[in-house]
Amino acid sequence: MRKTSRLAFVMTTALAAVTLAACSGGTAGGADAGSDGGDVAPTTMKLALNQTQTHPSFIALEAFGERLTEATDGRWNIEVFPDSQLGDQAEYLQSVGDGVIDLAIVSAPQLENLNDDFVIFSLPTVFDSIEHQMSVLSDPAVVGDVYASLEDSNSITVVGGLTQGARSVYTKDGIAQTPEDLAGGKIRVQESPVFIGMINALGASPTPMAYSEVYTALQSGVIDGAENNEISYSTQKHYEVAPFYSYTRHLIGADFLISNTDTLASMSEEDRAAFDEAWTATWEQHTELWMADTEKAIADATAGGATFEEVDSDSFLDALTPLLKEFITTDSQQTLFDAIKATAE
Ligand code: GCU
Repeated sequence: MRKTSRLAFVMTTALAAVTLAACSGGTAGGADAGSDGGDVAPTTMKLALNQTQTHPSFIALEAFGERLTEATDGRWNIEVFPDSQLGDQAEYLQSVGDGVIDLAIVSAPQLENLNDDFVIFSLPTVFDSIEHQMSVLSDPAVVGDVYASLEDSNSITVVGGLTQGARSVYTKDGIAQTPEDLAGGKIRVQESPVFIGMINALGASPTPMAYSEVYTALQSGVIDGAENNEISYSTQKHYEVAPFYSYTRHLIGADFLISNTDTLASMSEEDRAAFDEAWTATWEQHTELWMADTEKAIADATAGGATFEEVDSDSFLDALTPLLKEFITTDSQQTLFDAIKATAE
């Protein structure tokens, strides 16, 4: 090719690329591949997770990626980074907002720090059961507004929820039959006002820290205990250093899939519909896995030396009920709370 014609070729190609990008409204990463695919590079979304590869969330999210790839003929893929490889949840908020990461799973208390309406999802007695929780978290009439509430302020869209099951307290030094048994003990909490309030209400001393730091903190005695569901307790191997799991079942926790808002907006209508459909199959699979894996988690932890015991859970609930008054302080919180309660059986 002679010099002038090569230049003309380069310019024509560049112009074509600009025109294509302008027509599709795609992002720098070529995110909008159009529905026929083929000529635009596929987009791989990074998904940050703080769980191990044996946790139901990892298993379901890997399957989410496979479903999406298949439904979009490979235009969109998901790569899941487990084990806090991309940092801790508090950092995911920033990275997803900035578009450095496209997707992440974060616990409700993290979102509470951006919009205090999210506090409702972490209050005791809000959900009657995992089934009730999942019907709420997937119902746009109840959660549509709060899921979209961070788009303008933080460029974060909440796509949907996953259950964390019931959370209970576990400790290094013995079963806690009532809150009195925790008096003065240092209990790790997620980094949010409602979780701090919860441990204070039980008469213990809350120590906020990231999930990935809990094992070492228990081992070294920086904390005396923590609270979580059986699956996290088992997959994180916390039973090795805090073998007493007391069934306080003080609340049913919620995780959320968050996405960078621009990434979602750059999808074609067809691909976005495929994404939503793949997500529905994913949370449904996750809920099923949750039930089965809870039994396995109890068996694994028991084999590793853990003791699980039913305790006076009413005494914990009585101590925590005042939190409802303390943390529902705005009209929008009350509206969300009432809408959730109205869906209960
Ligand atoms: C659960 C939840 C996580 C959360 C963790 C925690 O495992 O699924 O999203 O980070 O609890 O206590 O920090």
